[in-house]
Amino acid sequence: MAKTVLVVDDDPTQRRLIQAVLEREGFNVVHAEGGDQAIARLGAGGQTDVILLDLNMPGISGLETLAEMRARGFHQPVIVVTATGGIDTVVQAMQAGAVDFFVKPAAPERIMVSIRNALSMGALKGEVDRLKKHQAGRTTFDDLIGGSAAMTMVKRLGERAAKSSIPILITGESGVGKEVIARAVHGSSERAGKPFVAVNCGAIPENLVESILFGHEKGSFTGATDKHLGKFLDEVGELPLDIQVKLLRALQESEIDAVGSKRSIKVDVRIVSATNRDLSQAVKEGRFREDLFYRLNVFPIEAPALRERKEDVPALVDAFVKRFNVEEGKTVVGAAPETMAFLVAFDWPGNVRQLENAVYRAIVLADAPYLQPHDFPAISGVAPPAAPAEPSAAVTASAPGAASMIPALPQAVPVRILDERGHLRTLEEIERDLIQLAIEIYAGHMSEVARRLGIGRSTLYRKVREQGLEDVLKGGGFETADEADAQVA
Ligand SMILES: Nc1ncnc2c1ncn2[C@@H]1O[C@H](COP(=O)(O)OP(=O)(O)OP(=O)(O)O)[C@@H](O)[C@H]1O
Ligand SMILES: [Mg+2]
Repeated sequence: MAKTVLVVDDDPTQRRLIQAVLEREGFNVVHAEGGDQAIARLGAGGQTDVILLDLNMPGISGLETLAEMRARGFHQPVIVVTATGGIDTVVQAMQAGAVDFFVKPAAPERIMVSIRNALSMGALKGEVDRLKKHQAGRTTFDDLIGGSAAMTMVKRLGERAAKSSIPILITGESGVGKEVIARAVHGSSERAGKPFVAVNCGAIPENLVESILFGHEKGSFTGATDKHLGKFLDEVGELPLDIQVKLLRALQESEIDAVGSKRSIKVDVRIVSATNRDLSQAVKEGRFREDLFYRLNVFPIEAPALRERKEDVPALVDAFVKRFNVEEGKTVVGAAPETMAFLVAFDWPGNVRQLENAVYRAIVLADAPYLQPHDFPAISGVAPPAAPAEPSAAVTASAPGAASMIPALPQAVPVRILDERGHLRTLEEIERDLIQLAIEIYAGHMSEVARRLGIGRSTLYRKVREQGLEDVLKGGGFETADEADAQVA
């Protein structure tokens, strides 16, 4: 989405000149004739990404305007502009938080450099704030991107449930944002500010159920720590039956024997769980205990698939562009309109995670201010202009026709069947590439990878070891990978 610059200047000619420069570069421009108007505009809440503020204005001065903006909590980057070059006021403005200044008349290139720098600083600050909140367990529902009716419903339900200790079960396809919803529940509850602890249910050792749940072994509790605990049980559908029994018992008892005390202490554990399986079906098939299901599923929240809320795609794209600009040191402004059109039209079988990965790759590829269709080759079908040609004899999984069989990112590592010289590759080589591709597509979710490949988890882990793919798991930084959660044990 195009960025909006608020130009605050009492001189209409000056405003028009700057407007012409900015619009040529694809920015939206809004004007204010003075400080009062500028503050009114910010207060009204219209999009404003950067403010160009004239320092010499009748009425309230530029400096006063800047102070007033900050006092009211408007933190958009401000670039100050002066006609006289009076160094004192410029210094004062910079001390008051302006990010840059220029002297009128300024060359268009000078203005653009200043604006682009200001935008990346704004994005950097936003990203730092986001990570701080994430780290501190203070992510809230306002941090969830998407204003569609379906998402608004999720936020409303989640906010209401967060206030109590009611057990919540979040369901939804892979990559829809179940974990971010769980984080928002945590950050909106009385446990906000405490660490968010995710437990991967596919990987709980049997003897550790209680200590994972309560943070203590029976009999080792000293009573010194907080009794209001919060736990996020991820992939709860993966719980083996014997662990289900233990978990149920621990939840029913919800008490811990304190050291040196005859009484056991009641513990208040708030359980938020998530699954991409149909648990009621698993209950019918006897794979999931009905009593445990009812205990976990007191307050269900269904996270809708991205294709059911396509209105959210543009806002998600913008947010990911901002984030990856910061990570990759790029200054991409957004997606070009034709790019956004097909991103919205696409069905995203891998949901928000797939979109996030696609934007990440696009930002890395991008060499223009706006993301082009060829920056998303797997989705648009448009090859990058300077792409090296595939060896003609190689049959790859990203060839037309084959692409539709692969739900996400076939551009990750094309699984080649023939070698450079047209001879068949060995089963082992193809298997290795296929496993690697699956790990990338399903972001290191080994249960999902195993299911998609039609093999057991332990077979998958053995193959990963044998094929020397541990590095892909670790190096991919797959934050939600099953193993990452073992740390809580
Ligand atoms: N509403 C949202 N706003 C911002 N980012 C989101 C949103 N929903 C999902 N994401 C991002 O998409 C990615 C996938 O989300 P998440 O891990 O919560 O999915 P999930 O439903 O738990 O997936 P899985 O079933 O595979 O575990 C994360 O990087 C997350 O930050
Ligand atoms: Mg998850």
